Amino acid sequence: MYNFDEEIDRTGTESVKWDEFPGTLPMWVADMDFKAAPCILKALQRRLDHGVFGYELLPDAYFEAISGWFAARHGWKGIGREHIVPTTGVIAAYSAAIKAMTVPGDEVIVQTPCYNAFFPAIRNNKCVEVHNPLRYEGGRYTIDFEDLARKAVDPRAKVLLLCNPHNPAGRVWTREELLAVGEICLRNGLFVISDEIHCELTYSGHDYTPWATLERDMVRHSVSCISPTKAFNIAGIQIANIFAADPDVLRKMDRAINDNECCDVNVFGATALQAAYREGGPWLDELRKYLKANAETVYDFLEKELPGVTALPLEGTYLMWLDCRNALHEGEPLEGFSERLAAHLREQAGLTLSTGTIYGPEGEGFERLNIACPRTRLKEGLRRLRDGVLSY
Ligand SMILES: Cc1ncc(COP(=O)(O)O)c(C=O)c1O
Repeated sequence: MYNFDEEIDRTGTESVKWDEFPGTLPMWVADMDFKAAPCILKALQRRLDHGVFGYELLPDAYFEAISGWFAARHGWKGIGREHIVPTTGVIAAYSAAIKAMTVPGDEVIVQTPCYNAFFPAIRNNKCVEVHNPLRYEGGRYTIDFEDLARKAVDPRAKVLLLCNPHNPAGRVWTREELLAVGEICLRNGLFVISDEIHCELTYSGHDYTPWATLERDMVRHSVSCISPTKAFNIAGIQIANIFAADPDVLRKMDRAINDNECCDVNVFGATALQAAYREGGPWLDELRKYLKANAETVYDFLEKELPGVTALPLEGTYLMWLDCRNALHEGEPLEGFSERLAAHLREQAGLTLSTGTIYGPEGEGFERLNIACPRTRLKEGLRRLRDGVLSY
């Protein structure tokens, strides 16, 4: 019903993904090469046709769209206007949440390799990043609960910045895993900031568990940062929401969002969000099927043509985490390998990936591949990956 095979030329559109390394096939920045859902385009067009773009209030309908979507789709019931602080993006959301819940010098725990923009947000709030590295065993990542418990005990540790589902590991944390994390955090007074921007993009058998559907006390000591921008490919429109169940926590979030002057959202963001959450379900379901088939294309290709590179199982997100360590030359040090390989792929094979180590030193030996593009483009990217790795 929707044509995800359509190749749209994004070059010369000031796209970060396409115009930062011109002449290469960009499979790095996390946006998609698909047009947004028709329901969003129509709603934006209607808003555009009005022709006046002054400051706007957010209507009840905005909050009802969020509440309706999460209740129907994810079993997360009872979200009300009184639980939400809107803002300009998920980075703005979790940065303000860090600011609200810490003082300079406090520790923020992250589960590395993790989304690279977590690090500057911690630093900008004058906090200290502490790594709770994910465990990589049998080609799959899991949470190292013992290590988390050890780090959470430190009185300086105040926040866990969680990525649920996880970028770049591609894991969709199960309820059991999240409950185990929640127990450790509660026991140690650690506040949880759950970045759930990737929550809509999950595949067969891996359902997203909203942090806010865990036990009451875990939810009270947390905020969830949610947004339709990633799943509906409207990241440049910049809209997100912070959910807090506890009124005191919400007040703190509101204060921090105001202190950071990111409390007024874009008129197009509010319009797009409502269209996505109200009418975007069928488009999103088709997209998820397409992305799943893209992931299968990657597995098939690597198995047949490039067995030295392993793509980790993709439970969620459209970002595949590639274990490239078999491409290391004999005697070559692992340190710096991700960067050398990424540079080689870009310069010699015309393919831009995200270098594994931008997600923390734990990403050494890995690269991240964005598969959210038409399949013909994906296949071309895979050929370049093969040629680049083989000529490394
Ligand atoms: C985990 C995660 N959080 C946040 C963002 C960015 O959010 P925003 O553009 O809404 O600030 C991304 C983008 O890739 C992401 O992967």
